[in-house]
Amino acid sequence: MTDWLASNPGRRCPPLAVHDVHVWHVALDISAARQAELWRSLSDEERARVERHTTSNGRRRALAARGLTRAVLAGYLELPPAKPAIAVGPRGKPYLVGSSLAFNLTHKDDCALVAVARSDIGVDVERVGSVARAGQIAARYFTAREREELATRSDAAAHLFFRRLWSAKEAYGKARGDGVTTRLADCEIDLDRAPPTIRANDGVAWRLWTLAPSPAFVGAVVAAEASVLAIFRFVE
Ligand SMILES: CC(C)(COP(=O)(O)OP(=O)(O)OC[C@H]1O[C@@H](n2cnc3c(N)ncnc32)[C@H](O)[C@@H]1OP(=O)(O)O)[C@@H](O)C(=O)NCCC(=O)NCCS
Repeated sequence: MTDWLASNPGRRCPPLAVHDVHVWHVALDISAARQAELWRSLSDEERARVERHTTSNGRRRALAARGLTRAVLAGYLELPPAKPAIAVGPRGKPYLVGSSLAFNLTHKDDCALVAVARSDIGVDVERVGSVARAGQIAARYFTAREREELATRSDAAAHLFFRRLWSAKEAYGKARGDGVTTRLADCEIDLDRAPPTIRANDGVAWRLWTLAPSPAFVGAVVAAEASVLAIFRFVE
């Protein structure tokens, strides 16, 4: 993981080649001054979405997630953070208007990941811990082979395996722009291979990387036609 100083004026993000994937690890608990600065970079629509959160913690982190995503994208586009036009697809996936740069965001508590590529991309983060209704979720979204793999584990190992597998599935759904749908059961993930594999029946050559942003979180990124991953920490 490479540190990247957001505060360095004019600092560009690293070059992103056609098969590259960049994942940015972003901390959402930031100073009030930085929050105010990020607020100014948001569109009216983004501000309205932030204000829909019912708790002050929720609003603060939603603002940081959107504002810092803009800060990352601005580093690639070489534009001020308020400039990029971000629209939202039919099932809620944000995208850059008029740009070949694709991105996706995930956040849980203070941890956010922003993934950037030149092709469809999805990223997910999950907090490590026990899973309620694991059997029901597995029956709906996991393949028979994935359920067999899950059944070979018990206790904490099973919960961890579940979270890692779920994260990879969700990243796939987010790369497609569908989010969580029963389509997740059509893709098969093998976490025991090195590197882990993903096979889907949608004609796309997807690539999967599993992530471990910190001991408390697991994550995954899925991108079409990608081959090289680099991970950066966004340092305020
Ligand atoms: C999208 C979805 C997977 C998010 O799951 P989650 O674990 O709660 O959240 P994550 O932190 O991983 O991702 C959230 C981010 O993903 C992005 N996102 C939203 N919808 C997305 C989609 N369909 N595909 C990819 N990314 C999406 C947004 O940037 C969102 O950030 P925000 O919550 O701050 O707006 C889940 O809400 C889902 O499947 N929704 C179904 C989509 C749907 O049916 N929409 C129809 C109504 S418009």
